[in-house]
Amino acid sequence: MGFPKLPLLGLFLLLAILNSPASADGPICPQTETLSRASFPKGFLFGTASAAFQVEGAVEEACRGPSVWDIYCRKYAFRCSGDNGDVATDFYHRYKEDIKLMKNLNSDAFRLSISWSRIFPHGRKEKGVSKAGVQFYHDLIDELIKNDLTPLVTVFHWDTPSDLEDEYGGFLSQNIVKDFMEYAEFVFNEYGDKVKNWVTFNEPWVFSRAGYDEGKKAPGRCSKYQNEFCDDGRSGYEAYLVSHNLLISHAEAVYIFRNKCEKCKGGKIGIAHSPAWFEPHDFNDAQDGASIERSLDFMMGWHLDTTMFGDYPQRMKDVVGHRLPRFSREQMAKLKNSADFVGINYYSSRFSNYVEKPDPSKPSWMQDALTTWEEKNVFGVSIGSKPTTGALEVYSRGLRKLLKYIKDKYNNPEIVITENGYGEHLEDKDSVELGTKDYNRRIYLMRHLLSLHEAICEDGVNVTSYFHWALTDNFEWQNGYKHRFGLYYIDYKNNLTRHEKESAKYYKHFLSQGTPPSKIKKDEL
Ligand SMILES: *[C@@H]1O[C@H](CO)[C@@H](O)[C@H](O)[C@H]1NC(C)=O
Ligand SMILES: *[C@@H]1O[C@H](CO)[C@@H](O)[C@H](O)[C@H]1NC(C)=O
Repeated sequence: MGFPKLPLLGLFLLLAILNSPASADGPICPQTETLSRASFPKGFLFGTASAAFQVEGAVEEACRGPSVWDIYCRKYAFRCSGDNGDVATDFYHRYKEDIKLMKNLNSDAFRLSISWSRIFPHGRKEKGVSKAGVQFYHDLIDELIKNDLTPLVTVFHWDTPSDLEDEYGGFLSQNIVKDFMEYAEFVFNEYGDKVKNWVTFNEPWVFSRAGYDEGKKAPGRCSKYQNEFCDDGRSGYEAYLVSHNLLISHAEAVYIFRNKCEKCKGGKIGIAHSPAWFEPHDFNDAQDGASIERSLDFMMGWHLDTTMFGDYPQRMKDVVGHRLPRFSREQMAKLKNSADFVGINYYSSRFSNYVEKPDPSKPSWMQDALTTWEEKNVFGVSIGSKPTTGALEVYSRGLRKLLKYIKDKYNNPEIVITENGYGEHLEDKDSVELGTKDYNRRIYLMRHLLSLHEAICEDGVNVTSYFHWALTDNFEWQNGYKHRFGLYYIDYKNNLTRHEKESAKYYKHFLSQGTPPSKIKKDEL
C-alpha cells in the first residue's frame, strides 16, 4: 500500500456519508460532510482496548500467582518469540499515564481485563485473596470513571491460574465451572456497582482452537500431526471439551450476574467473539459458497448460537458427532439468551475453500469445518490489501458484511465492536521514527470506521460502541513484542516511553467532532 491518497479518500468518505439515509426504525444517523464521531448515532461510545497479561507486567507484585501464560512463555520461550509478559507495558504502574493518553484521544471508554491470578493467586478464594490485587482494579476503574471513561471489563482473557491447570487441567475439566463461578461472582460483587458493561470470555474460539487444537497459544496442547512442539494433547477432541466447559461456565456466571448480584442491576454482559468474514475461494463452485456458512458456524456459531439459541449449530453436531459433548436440558436453558449483546473482535477476512477428502486418522477442528481458509482465491487474487509489514490482510468490507449477517441471523441483537485493529511487524527496521509513521494503521482505522458507519446507517445494524485494539503496543502472545497494534508506540528499549502515532492523531481528530456521550444529558438519549 502506498502513501495515502488523501484527497481521493476524503471525497470517497464524503460521498458515502451523503448517501446514507437516517432510518426511522434503525439507528438514527446524523448527516455530516465528513466521517467523524458526529456521523454516528448519539451516545455511541468510542474507546480503546487492552488485556491484563498483554499490558500489566508486574507479574510477581502483590502476591499475583502465575497464569498458564507465565508458565508457557517461561518454559517454551521459543514459542513466545523469545519474550514473556513479565514487564509488558508496565500498565500496572503506569495506568494513570495511559489514562491521559485515552483523554488525549477524546475517547469515551476503555476495555480492560482482570487477571484472575491477581485476585486469587492460587485460583480459589479459600487459598487466599490478594487485597492489593483487588485494590489495583478499584484504583484503575475509579481513575477511568473520574476521567469520564466508561469501563468495559473482561472477566477472563486467557490467563487461567496456573494452580488450577496443574491441579485438574484447567478448562479441560468440569471442575473449572465452580472455580470460575466463584471468581466471577467475586469480581461482580466487588466492581459491579462501578462497571456496567462486562465480557465473560474473550475469543473462546481462539482460546480453544489455538490452545488445544493447534498448540499455538498457552497451554500449547495438540497432537503431533498438528504441531511438532506439542508434548501433550489431542487435536479434534480437547478443543470441544474446553469450549463446552467454558460455555457452561459462561452460563453460570451470567446466571449469577443477573440473579445473585444486587450491585450488578442494570448491567450488561456478553462474550467477545472473533470471527473473520469469508468470501468463496471459487465463486463458480457451489461447494465453496456453502462452506462459508460452515466456516462461520465453526468459528462464531460454536459459541454464539449456543448463547443465543441454547445449543451448538446443527452443522457442527453433524460433522463432529460424538467428539462434540452434549448439554443437559438444564444447561441449554441457562445458555439460551445468556448474552445481552454480541461482542465482536474483527481483524480480517479469508476465502473459504471446501475440503472434499478429510483424513479421519488426523482429526482437527479445522478439518471438521471441512474447509481451508485461503488468503488468495482460485484466481490468485488476495482477499484485501496487505502492506509488507502488515500482520493480516486489510478487508474492511468484511466488517460490514459480517455485521449484517449477525443482524439477520441472530434477530438484530445489540453489537459491540470489542476489538478491531491493525498489527504490524517492523522487524529490524523497528524504531520510534518508523513505528509512529503508521499510515497503514491510519488507513485501516479510517476504512473500518467507514465500513462500521455503513453497517449502522445503511444496513441498520445496532452497534452501540467501538473499541480499537489497542491503546498502546503490547505483548502479542506467541508473537511477543514483535507485532505492534497500538495507537501509541512503546519504546521497549527506552524505559517503555509512549509515543503518539499517526493513527492516534487521526482517531483524536475523528473524535474531536460531535458530542462525546459524557457531555450528553441522560434524558436526551
Ligand atoms: C439497540 O439496542 C439497544 C440495547 O438493546 C436498544 O436499547 C436500542 O433500542 C436498539 N436500537 C435500535 C435502533 O434497535
Ligand atoms: C521510566 O519511566 C517511569 C514512568 O514514566 C518513570 O517513573 C521513571 O523515572 C523512568 N525511569 C528512568 C530511568 O527514566
